[in-house]
Amino acid sequence: MLILSITEDLMAADGFQFAFTPEIEVETAPVWEKVRRIVTPMEWRAKAPLIAAINRLKAEKDAVILAHNYMTPEIFHGVGDYVGDSLGLAKEAARSKARVIVQAGVHFMAETSKILSPEKTVLIPDLRAGCSLAASITGADVRLIKQRYPGLPVVTYVNTTAEVKAETDICCTSANAVQVVEEAARLWGVDRVILIPDEFLARNVARQTDIKIIAWKGRCEVHERFTAADILEIKQAYPGAEVLAHPECPAEVLEVADFAGSTQAMNDYVLTRKPKRVVLITECSMADNVAADAVDTEFVRPCVLCPHMQRISLENIYEALLHGRHEVTVEADVAARARLAVQRMVDLPPPAKPARYDLVKARHHVDVELI
Ligand code: 13P
Ligand code: SF4
Repeated sequence: MLILSITEDLMAADGFQFAFTPEIEVETAPVWEKVRRIVTPMEWRAKAPLIAAINRLKAEKDAVILAHNYMTPEIFHGVGDYVGDSLGLAKEAARSKARVIVQAGVHFMAETSKILSPEKTVLIPDLRAGCSLAASITGADVRLIKQRYPGLPVVTYVNTTAEVKAETDICCTSANAVQVVEEAARLWGVDRVILIPDEFLARNVARQTDIKIIAWKGRCEVHERFTAADILEIKQAYPGAEVLAHPECPAEVLEVADFAGSTQAMNDYVLTRKPKRVVLITECSMADNVAADAVDTEFVRPCVLCPHMQRISLENIYEALLHGRHEVTVEADVAARARLAVQRMVDLPPPAKPARYDLVKARHHVDVELI
């Protein structure tokens, strides 16, 4: 699909040239080689000049782009310096030596980068790139939860605001949630843990551990839409397709999936196991990104887009770099408290094996206590 941006005039005023010159063609040829199976030549001629301009601006401004797996392929393969899941991006934010971080992802990811790297300038290309999970709970909610369950550790999914992280004992992502819950129970010497705000992630974790889980009713507006019936229908229509699902999906979806894990775990599954046919039950830009590398795999593509992730484009990344906008800041005392929770997670040793939410082999079918 060719989308000519309404910001074209604005960028022309900034002196930006849109021409797909022979020089640009040569400069961007390695990216084209990667994406040519998923981007049409007409789209490429519109996008390549922007990709070249962004990559030049990054060097000028001492900036890196941290791009989530849900970014569109021209961002993911064209301008992302580091690409991955929430855990990988958070670790890279802390490691990076660049002066500026452009977060090609949603607002909570930019806040996490700022929390871990207060000395860096962190930019998000569109301030409206939110998340239904992050919007589902406030710091005041967490304070009330702590009053209701004194002495229990609060494990918070990174898909939350800085003020929620500041009320938290330790953060987790979908890549390490089981490990973090078990570690929190061990450190606090308890057999119950508060895991907020994603109800479905909490239910999926509860089935993988002996620790009892107290959960909040937050939902991802993308993953909550999938049902077990959808998966069974796909399996019937596409025989042999291996179904990989994100743990933000309802437990009934994971029960009929072949594998579940973080976005990076799904990516790694496809690249290492090379299934003949696969379907990724998650935001659908990701399938394009993995397909660029997995040339021998056929992708079945049920498409649900995250409206927040989709706000990030090459055009607004270019403008973010050019104008240094939109800077993400976190109040110093909130950042200091949130940093403890995020850092505890980042400092955990890598899990012996990546978390899977394989409910076929789940040890438990226990329920969670919903607040
Ligand atoms: P990952 O940590 O698996 O990348 O998930 C982040 C997210 O927002 C999924 O919807
Ligand atoms: Fe949030 Fe869901 Fe979008 Fe991920 S896909 S950013 S959890 S709304």
